[in-house]
Amino acid sequence: MYSNMHKYFGFSTYIIIIILSISGSVLSVFPAWDRLTLPTSNASVLSVAQVAQRIQQEYPTVEQIKRLASGKVIIYYFENEQPVAEQIDPLTAAKIAPYEAVGFKSWVTKLHRSLFLDDSGRILAAFAALSMLILSISGAKLVAKRNGGWRIFFNKVQGNGSQKLHVQFGQFALVGFLISSITAIYMFLVTFGFVQDGLNQVAQFPQNINVTSQIQLINSKALKQINLDDLRELTFPYPDDPTDVFAISTNSGAGYVDPSTGEMLGFVPYNLARQIYEFIYMLHTGRGIWWLGLMLGLTTGCIPVLSVTGLLLWWRKRKDRPKIRNISSAQKADKIILVGSQDNSSWAFAKALHDGLVEQNFKVHICEMNKIANHYKNADTMFILASTYDDGEAPKSANKFLQKLDVISGIASFKYAVLGFGDKQFPKYCKFAINVEQKLNEKAWQQLMQMERINQQSAQAFEQWGQKVAVELNVPLEMDYKPKPRATQKLALVSRQDFGQKVQAPTSILRFGPGNAKKLSIIAKLFNLRLPKFEAGDLVGIIPQNSDTPRFYSLASSNRDGFLEICVRKQAGGLCSGQLHGLEIGDEIDVFIQPNPKFKPDLDDAPVILIGAGAGIAPLTGFLRQNIRQQPMHLYFGCRDPQSDFLYESEIDDWLKAKKLETSHIAFSRIEQKTYVQDCLTEDVESLRSLMRQGAQIMICGSKNMANEVEVAMKFILKPMGISIEDMRNSGRYLEDVY
Ligand SMILES: Cc1cc2nc3c(=O)[nH]c(=O)nc-3n(C[C@H](O)[C@H](O)[C@H](O)COP(=O)(O)OP(=O)(O)OC[C@H]3O[C@@H](n4cnc5c(N)ncnc54)[C@H](O)[C@@H]3O)c2cc1C
Ligand SMILES: Cc1cc2nc3c(=O)[nH]c(=O)nc-3n(C[C@H](O)[C@H](O)[C@H](O)COP(=O)(O)O)c2cc1C
Repeated sequence: MYSNMHKYFGFSTYIIIIILSISGSVLSVFPAWDRLTLPTSNASVLSVAQVAQRIQQEYPTVEQIKRLASGKVIIYYFENEQPVAEQIDPLTAAKIAPYEAVGFKSWVTKLHRSLFLDDSGRILAAFAALSMLILSISGAKLVAKRNGGWRIFFNKVQGNGSQKLHVQFGQFALVGFLISSITAIYMFLVTFGFVQDGLNQVAQFPQNINVTSQIQLINSKALKQINLDDLRELTFPYPDDPTDVFAISTNSGAGYVDPSTGEMLGFVPYNLARQIYEFIYMLHTGRGIWWLGLMLGLTTGCIPVLSVTGLLLWWRKRKDRPKIRNISSAQKADKIILVGSQDNSSWAFAKALHDGLVEQNFKVHICEMNKIANHYKNADTMFILASTYDDGEAPKSANKFLQKLDVISGIASFKYAVLGFGDKQFPKYCKFAINVEQKLNEKAWQQLMQMERINQQSAQAFEQWGQKVAVELNVPLEMDYKPKPRATQKLALVSRQDFGQKVQAPTSILRFGPGNAKKLSIIAKLFNLRLPKFEAGDLVGIIPQNSDTPRFYSLASSNRDGFLEICVRKQAGGLCSGQLHGLEIGDEIDVFIQPNPKFKPDLDDAPVILIGAGAGIAPLTGFLRQNIRQQPMHLYFGCRDPQSDFLYESEIDDWLKAKKLETSHIAFSRIEQKTYVQDCLTEDVESLRSLMRQGAQIMICGSKNMANEVEVAMKFILKPMGISIEDMRNSGRYLEDVY
């Protein structure tokens, strides 16, 4: 509901909101500009009596003195029978500049208030303000859902590109949007008389006045009591009219001053309606509070960015839903694909699966998860591709799926497989897919294969899942999923160290430097960005030759080290790992960086337990290399043979000596007394428990199998302490980077 609201209101007032935001931002600069151009003399200690006296002496034909909210003092008088408006220095009454109320500012003001269309423009502007209020509320609700609650509304945003920018700008500007839109709506209601502003409340003009001689203004008791900072207007009486008096308005009310006695006659303080009006006017315009004006202007200045990124997001979402041909009807199909998607990106995966199955002559029906039928006559397999949104919730096209399952009775005649799409950066990774899997388990439907999860639309993981499907269906399934092209950069191999040949685990430490300088972009050359920006623990995506699908490798260095280092285990028949192992010094590869912000040690004083095996040591070495603070780090590393694949052997010694590493525990699995990394953990149970009591964080990198074994060992270690892995995961103290 909130997302539709956000979309429809955003579209209906798109252009007007952009115009109003730009004009509002321009107007917000004026109070600050006025402030900057004020005379530096300290006039705020002066009373109105002092200032008026001096002005009257210098400009005997003065009609009115105005003090603007910016602090400027303007006087109106006649010179050679011509009206003149002049800004003066209140301390000396010297002229500063002619005062011009019209011009660019009033042009922008008219545009902002009414789009030059008078009342109909004012109504349009008010509708845009209402739309902005709804956009702010619905947007805030969506961000809160996305981040996992209102309490962590302002937390760092996950995601990337336009989406991240859209949320970040929204978070930054939310309060400003609420203030600007609510105050704009109020001012519209006032203008059209729906709300009282108290402006028509005036003091009674004094009767029976007969001025015979005027008191020196400096001696006026009433004017002496009013500070210049509180003055708004002082209008002088007509010199030829003995019944006329001074009219004065201040920040707190209005009244009249008797010219002969200098006494106040009937001062009326502003009523509540007027005070509210003035407060809201000040909030909207920043009048009198230049910094508030600038801040609001800065926030409304975010609107064009939000509009462009919002439009991009909408466009991308539309584009992501591919056209699918040869869809069989639900009752004729033998394979059913249900898609639960919000932003449509899962549809490209679903299409690849659909087309691959059709290629194998299956009859395939594909539709949204919400459109599940109660019964399928011919189906033998159902694939459920489900993404997760809003703190573990169902996406739009699957929000009725679980209720629909409730009304489908009995056990299905087909087998099912769930594939979750999500993002590990969210606390509830693929939670909706997990819920679906659980529900189907409860219903005792038959599983074709275990649920798998695809992180950040990884083409690589999808390909691997496809290979498992092919095995289950016993067909040579080819899925042609084309990942979105990523901007890549060329890097060249600068050094390599090869390990593990003897123990059938060929693994190389590959170090890359900037590629051919001629091919760098102008920006990269200008700013010397010869390496992309990355941190140890991030991932580098490498696009192998003859494939569009990038493979990811964990980074063992940060760009500050001046090189990009990875450890690559050569897989039998593997395309990318094979090509990387075949590289010679100077050879170039195409790469992009995929940030992995969750897989980073907390930079506090608590110990860090680093656990890895084989190439999984890569990011852990990066953390050690950077540990100049000597945070207590403990390494548990598994490899096969000290003579063959003991990666980083000499560096580990160096880090121990430099106190970057406190203890190291190496397990060798191909020697006489073979041990695995999980054995090292269980052997070291007491010191691990002591580290846990000190609030240690655990970081694991390597294969899924190793990570599973490590989890079993850690459960054994932690159980007597009453600590669960789940709790540790939720609090960011059990981090895994497994593949
Ligand atoms: C987040 C993440 C981090 C990673 N970090 C690292 C890392 O730091 N170091 C590392 O080494 N790897 C890492 N990987 C794994 C890496 O991305 C690749 O999956 C791996 O290098 C295999 O890619 P490939 O192109 O060589 O194999 P692919 O060509 O993609 O093949 C995939 C699998 O199929 C098998 N295969 C392919 N063709 C054949 C064939 N004809 N016959 C038999 N088997 C075949 C391969 O053995 C391989 O196991 C990571 C993966 C992820 C997702
Ligand atoms: C606003 C928002 C909230 C998300 N919430 C989650 C979440 O709670 N858990 C998760 O695993 N992924 C979450 N994701 C990631 C998506 O599930 C992931 O990008 C998925 O591939 C999107 O597929 P779709 O475009 O088909 O909907 C979220 C993404 C967005 C934009």
